[in-house]
Amino acid sequence: MSSRVYGCLSLIGERITENSDFLTDLDRQIGDADHGANMARGFAAVVGKVPGDDPDIGAALKKTGMTLLSTVGGASGPLYGTAYMEAAKVLAGSETLSAQGFVDALTAAVAGIQKRGKSVRGEKTMLDALIPALEASTAAVAGGGSLSDALDSACAAAEEGVAYTRTIAATKGRASYLGERSIGHQDPGATSAAITLEAIRDYIRG
Ligand SMILES: Nc1ncnc2c1ncn2[C@@H]1O[C@H](COP(=O)(O)OP(=O)(O)OP(=O)(O)O)[C@@H](O)[C@H]1O
Ligand SMILES: [Mg+2]
Repeated sequence: MSSRVYGCLSLIGERITENSDFLTDLDRQIGDADHGANMARGFAAVVGKVPGDDPDIGAALKKTGMTLLSTVGGASGPLYGTAYMEAAKVLAGSETLSAQGFVDALTAAVAGIQKRGKSVRGEKTMLDALIPALEASTAAVAGGGSLSDALDSACAAAEEGVAYTRTIAATKGRASYLGERSIGHQDPGATSAAITLEAIRDYIRG
């Protein structure tokens, strides 16, 4: 039987692959038309490399991060790779995911992206989905919410963050070359981040 973490990573991979053309089209408008292809290639490698039956969430996330780092390329490979590897440190040895564990792992992932990308909220990147998602899930858990509540809040905030990326100019990554002309376009990395959170939510809902 495959582990829960493997099942969840597989669903993330499925959703990324289903949305690969969409993500690449978004990247065509403000980048170099490779985000969907990059991420789909990365997750195809992840489902091949992560052991299907090891329940250790940290070990699976570490393998995921290393695999994304070496297969995705571009800006998003190192950024997602770092995110998963930082989350892995928090969940090392865990075989189940608690609401607080999710928030702590997302906190570490976001901090890792910010450090590696030298980026903050409001620069039209994946952080514009992930930081609001982190804030909303932190608040949900502080109010006694379950893991499922935390993920619902995270996904709603990430969706709003994705919509917000349409309204601002990019100041990081390839899209920043367009400056004000990037306004009106949705950020591909924010979109793949929201898709990832939605896959985790749907997996946990069962
Ligand atoms: N410094 C950064 N911090 C956070 N996210 C970033 C940063 N730079 C880029 N991104 C995210 O990466 C996404 C682009 O990923 P993609 O896979 O297309 O890489 P790329 O920009 O084409 O890389 P390269 O320019 O090196 O080829 C953007 O939509 C944005 O969300
Ligand atoms: Mg690109």
